[in-house]
Amino acid sequence: MNDFITPPNHINFRAKRLFGEMGRIADGAIAYIDLDGGGPTEPHTHSHNHLFIVTEGEAKILLGDKEIIVGKDEAFLVEGKIPHSVWNNSDGMTKMIGITVVPSTEMCLRPFMPSDAAKIMSWNKDKRAFRLWSADRFGDFPAEPGELTAQFDDDRKIPLVAMADNEVVGFIMMRYPTDDNSLIRLGFVIIDDSKRGKGYGSKMLRLAIDHARNALGAKRISLGVFCDNKSAVECYKAVGFSIIGEDSYTIDGEEWKEFEMILEI
Ligand SMILES: CC(C)(COP(=O)(O)OP(=O)(O)OC[C@H]1O[C@@H](n2cnc3c(N)ncnc32)[C@H](O)[C@@H]1OP(=O)(O)O)[C@@H](O)C(=O)NCCC(=O)NCCS
Repeated sequence: MNDFITPPNHINFRAKRLFGEMGRIADGAIAYIDLDGGGPTEPHTHSHNHLFIVTEGEAKILLGDKEIIVGKDEAFLVEGKIPHSVWNNSDGMTKMIGITVVPSTEMCLRPFMPSDAAKIMSWNKDKRAFRLWSADRFGDFPAEPGELTAQFDDDRKIPLVAMADNEVVGFIMMRYPTDDNSLIRLGFVIIDDSKRGKGYGSKMLRLAIDHARNALGAKRISLGVFCDNKSAVECYKAVGFSIIGEDSYTIDGEEWKEFEMILEI
């Protein structure tokens, strides 16, 4: 239970955040899946999503051509439009809560899951775009999806994806860069390359700002952006960030200038 915390003002209480806003809850059910049990026997699709939370044992979700293992105290959101079925993957009984989620047409943020990584990494079409996005955080281009997941190695980092129309359209990492919980720093901000320039970036940033203010209790948000990354600089300015300084970075042997930006919230 290493990833559980005791929230402030609680005693003998351990909790772990399993999911965030992801749409409207239509219903919830509890399932006891016996040895070799599961279903449906032929994977099915539908417009709603399933949020599965395993409380005992281990579940295996067949999702398109992927197999996802969900252990005890873990959650997974199954996108209903991908053919899927769910199976017991333990030697005993698996106990699971299933919540039917009707996707919101409005954009919302939900916690990043390792299964999101390949899609996010595919939005960088060349090395320059990759470096503009991630500076020197990865080795060579292209990087493996697992290298993105490996960036979120502590609970001071909060990786979130933006969902719109039941699709992952963006990604943003929020982190506490210091011990001071009033400051949040943004990183890895990106929108699906086929959807840029349509307002998704500014919408995602506004949701992130609300989350920093209302859920994380932050008072200021900072970020660094390469000066040549015009769309990003304009997008940050559009949601209220101001340039407060300039720095430089060595990227692949070249000097790249970076703006430091800040927003008081
Ligand atoms: C930066 C990024 C997230 C912005 O998302 P987006 O969906 O394209 O941005 P939006 O459509 O919401 O535009 C937001 C604002 O920026 C402006 N803008 C966007 N691209 C622009 C460009 N190339 N030139 C001038 N202004 C631009 C828009 O006009 C809009 O301003 P407005 O609200 O005043 O009209 C997106 O372009 C992206 O994913 N870039 C690649 C990854 C990256 O470099 N991330 C930044 C890391 S620091």
